[in-house]
Amino acid sequence: MKISVIGAGYVGLTSAACLAEIGHTVRCADNDERKLDVLRGGQLPFFEPHLEDLVTRNGKAGRLRFETTENAVADAEAIFICVGTPPLDNGEADLSAVANVARTIAQRATGYCLVIEKSTVPVQTSQQLKRQLQLYSNKGLRCDLVSNPEFLREGSAIEDFFHPDRIVIGVEREEVAARMREIYRPVLEQTFQCPVHAECTAHKTPAWIVTDPSSAELIKHASNSFLAMKISFINMVADLCEAVGADVTKVALGMGMDPRIGPAFLNPGIGFGGFCFPKDVQAFVRIAAKAGCDFSLLKEVENINKRRIERFVEKVRKELWVIRGRKIAVWGLSFKPNTDDVRFAPAIELLRLLVREGAEVSAYDPQANDKAKAVFPNARYCADPYEAAQDAEALLLATEWEEFRRIDWQRLRDAMDRPLILDGRNTLDANELTGHGFNYVGVGRPAVAAKTNVPAADSAIEPTNAVKGLAETR
Ligand SMILES: NC(=O)c1ccc[n+]([C@@H]2O[C@H](COP(=O)([O-])OP(=O)(O)OC[C@H]3O[C@@H](n4cnc5c(N)ncnc54)[C@H](O)[C@@H]3O)[C@@H](O)[C@H]2O)c1
Repeated sequence: MKISVIGAGYVGLTSAACLAEIGHTVRCADNDERKLDVLRGGQLPFFEPHLEDLVTRNGKAGRLRFETTENAVADAEAIFICVGTPPLDNGEADLSAVANVARTIAQRATGYCLVIEKSTVPVQTSQQLKRQLQLYSNKGLRCDLVSNPEFLREGSAIEDFFHPDRIVIGVEREEVAARMREIYRPVLEQTFQCPVHAECTAHKTPAWIVTDPSSAELIKHASNSFLAMKISFINMVADLCEAVGADVTKVALGMGMDPRIGPAFLNPGIGFGGFCFPKDVQAFVRIAAKAGCDFSLLKEVENINKRRIERFVEKVRKELWVIRGRKIAVWGLSFKPNTDDVRFAPAIELLRLLVREGAEVSAYDPQANDKAKAVFPNARYCADPYEAAQDAEALLLATEWEEFRRIDWQRLRDAMDRPLILDGRNTLDANELTGHGFNYVGVGRPAVAAKTNVPAADSAIEPTNAVKGLAETR
């Protein structure tokens, strides 16, 4: 099928490359000329595992081209709208990019096409889109609107396209669902050469959910808000665990064994971020308020999340006593591992608070240094994790990249001024670290003092209650 994808960001470029990989002829458009130049030059504007291979291979095969929106929408059989829907100051989704694309489609598209809303939008946006398309159409556009929300996760976006749990289609007519099925047939029937796994054993038929457009739009916002709620819930429990000396990792393990709860998204830490959860929760609250429904439950989800970084910095203060003038290292800057996306990343907020308190911050991320530096230039960005930790009095882990689990701890111990690690993602092995002489502070579980070779504690520093407790029992 002749498909156009509008928006060459994390969702658009991934979708375009994957749709080309399953055999469609795809034109991918963006209104950012620089982004188009980068893509035409054979490079990617962001990091996503496996994506470069797909873009290169399908570009060479002539199945994937980069164009302006005006050119891309002419004579397309299906147009996926994948532009950004960032939050406005009042929390509502800014739909101006979606509206601009709709206008271009109305004015430039010819014949019949599917207009597929993949951007995350408030419920009833498809009705607005339909009105816009009719209003601005001057070439007798005939189209059907489809809501097809995207569930990919940055960092595993390609895998998620080929092995989704479900594909959700919101349509007004059954025949439209059949056309959408044609687009996704290779994924639904799992008849593709998997670009992620050499010998793919993950073949599992995804659920094909056909519903009305409003329900499809709601599925996306409700899913993201529910996941955010799970994260804030376990973070709230983590705070209680810290207060009473319990271990949230064990609590989460016990909870997650219940199939009605499940283990996913029960990892406490410094909170959720990224381009989806924070803005989608806010937008969902606003949508509900407009419809006269009280979603104060989700406002609290947001409030709990907003307090995570301040609470983490409070722990740093407790360990160091004074933050001003102290050298502090931060590992991990992207909002999650395996992406370079720093939009609404908790790590960036952490840098901001530490620098505001007068710390000298050295930071390192395997992929996101440049993007972090662009939004927050007031830290020192380092080429590797050891350089960031050199002479530091505390190391803060903000994003759980795999690289941080394979560190030469002895080398790190020698580089640091004081062997103190605050693990904001509960991802490191406390036992291993304390064996290497580090004091370890996680989230929602007792801090653990170094087992060996610890320099005499600074008398001005008040150890955490949990560390104190451990020291007393040893
Ligand atoms: N990033 C994710 O993990 C993810 C997952 C699921 C859904 N979503 C949703 O998908 C949508 C896109 O997210 P993203 O992360 O890909 O955003 P993004 O910012 O990475 O990409 C959006 C792209 O659209 C382009 N654009 C903006 N206005 C345009 C216009 N008028 N014409 C052509 N191009 C235009 C931008 O230049 C940009 O390249 C959002 O609604 C988001 O909520 C994102």
